[in-house]
Amino acid sequence: MIGLRVDALRVVFDGFAAVDGVSFEVQPGESFGLVGESGSGKSTVLRAVCGLARRAGGEVALTAKAGAPPVPEPGSKAFRRQVQMVFQDPYGSLHPRQTVDRALAEPLAIHGLADGEARIERALEEVGLGAGFRFRYPHQLSGGQRQRVAIARALILEPQVLLLDEPTSALDASVQAEVLNLLERLRRERQLSFVMVSHDLAVVTHLCERLAVMQRGRIVETVAGADLAAGRVQAAYTRALMEAAAGFRRPLA
Ligand SMILES: Nc1ncnc2c1ncn2[C@@H]1O[C@H](COP(=O)(O)OP(=O)(O)O)[C@@H](O)[C@H]1O
Ligand SMILES: [Mg+2]
Repeated sequence: MIGLRVDALRVVFDGFAAVDGVSFEVQPGESFGLVGESGSGKSTVLRAVCGLARRAGGEVALTAKAGAPPVPEPGSKAFRRQVQMVFQDPYGSLHPRQTVDRALAEPLAIHGLADGEARIERALEEVGLGAGFRFRYPHQLSGGQRQRVAIARALILEPQVLLLDEPTSALDASVQAEVLNLLERLRRERQLSFVMVSHDLAVVTHLCERLAVMQRGRIVETVAGADLAAGRVQAAYTRALMEAAAGFRRPLA
């Protein structure tokens, strides 16, 4: 199992600090959530962790338990294999003229993995689609099926850390629950570490052991999922987010 440490991360766009001194640690095998209003910097944190956004400051490092083999450095090919991202929009993340087979073969080719055929079939089975989906195009799939393909593509390299950017928010509620259950099962089976971004407090509270609340590029509070569910939070901003979320509305006693 591999964990993640983010220390004083800073990302700047044209002089604007979208992420301004963010620190958190995800234990090996832990599921960690990032919540906060739109524009608070959640996606930018994930993009900076996996190298898609340039770091203006701070450190990102993988961590392992004592005695485990050394972990790869950010920027290395081994790191890019260990840390995979799943994006919100399964329409945007799959090429419209590429079959599922090609979408899954591409990362295997980049990382020079053998047994492509067997890996592709296994990956499709694991996300509940089956080999019958191999030669379909994205437009022949439902939103949930597309997101399952995106998850299969992330997992086909056998990563240890999955960065999930609102992985179900483009889906209908019932499909959302199916995909979240799938993610939770895969995490347990493969002993993965998750960093899951969501604006939906109910989703992260259900799935994440701990979570950080972001506002304007900073973390205002880090809290256990169970404490959040029970209303045991410190920051006024967290409370406001909870009150805004329908699932958290409590009767005024
Ligand atoms: N590539 C970019 N160029 C310029 N500004 C960006 C870019 N990506 C994000 N931003 C800005 O950074 C801030 C944080 O964005 P983002 O990380 O996408 O927030 P969130 O995911 O929490 O909604 C926003 O103000 C957004 O407009
Ligand atoms: Mg975002």
